[in-house]
Amino acid sequence: MRETHARYAGLTDGAVADYIPKLAEADPDWFGISLASATGRSFSVGDAQQEFSIQSISKAFVYALVCESLGHDLMRERIGVNNTGLPFNSVMAIELNGGHTMNPMVNAGALATTGLVPGDSWEEKWDYIHRGLSAFAGRDLELDEEVFASEMETNLRNMGIARLLQSYGHISIDPMRVTELYTRQCSLRVTTEDLARMGATLADGGTNPVTGAEVVSPAVSRDVLAVMATTGMYEASGDWLFEVGMPGKSGVAGGIVTIAPGKGSLATFSPPLDAAGNSVRGIRATRHLSHMLGLNLF
Ligand code: DON
Repeated sequence: MRETHARYAGLTDGAVADYIPKLAEADPDWFGISLASATGRSFSVGDAQQEFSIQSISKAFVYALVCESLGHDLMRERIGVNNTGLPFNSVMAIELNGGHTMNPMVNAGALATTGLVPGDSWEEKWDYIHRGLSAFAGRDLELDEEVFASEMETNLRNMGIARLLQSYGHISIDPMRVTELYTRQCSLRVTTEDLARMGATLADGGTNPVTGAEVVSPAVSRDVLAVMATTGMYEASGDWLFEVGMPGKSGVAGGIVTIAPGKGSLATFSPPLDAAGNSVRGIRATRHLSHMLGLNLF
């Protein structure tokens, strides 16, 4: 891992996201890698203790929690599992699919998924998300209030997507509050050590290998990994699967979590992104580690 970190630390490709103003303050040199096994062991190198907002990586874990509550068939029908072939914040993907979302890993499907979170009040819904994501990580995750406020001031596009979904009958509660809840889940702070543990929980069939908590069932873990494989890296999911050979999920703050089912998880953090919104160093480092450790599933 040390060798992989040194190999890619000097890469200067990619650009730090700035459409959420607070994210633009990230240091482009931050680079951390963590590995967590499905037996509870972990290793890290670089900026593995640097906290950053989980962003779209939350989509995979909130999807898992909602699948646990609502089940395989309903989630497949309501949210979909196919790649859009379009950017993560595409509006056109909704229109081209008859007003339906196509998968839970892009913003439309993630907003619709968050709209299905159980709870009688917004507080209960947030508690469900917060407690669930914290159980995946094995510690109480904190909200980055500044990132949350920064995105809430600028996320007109997500509000538009949520309204559009409402117009098609795919969000049945207040779409502005759903957008706020989704933005909150994206603003939880994690480190690569947290992400690796969250991934290791999915690798371990939904049981956190450190705390022993059964967060979701093995069947739900399998469903989440399948949809991460097809869509976790957006329109670049095919390139990712071809090179890395494992399900992964990226976030616009620069995190990527990758799961080796039954074995464990790799997490990387490096803010500069490629055109699809995936961390450049993260992709290279994960690909290298996948080869070195023989993790490609195929
Ligand atoms: O909704 C958004 O635009 C962000 N909160 C999350 C997007 C994201 O992480 C895309 N990832 N690479």
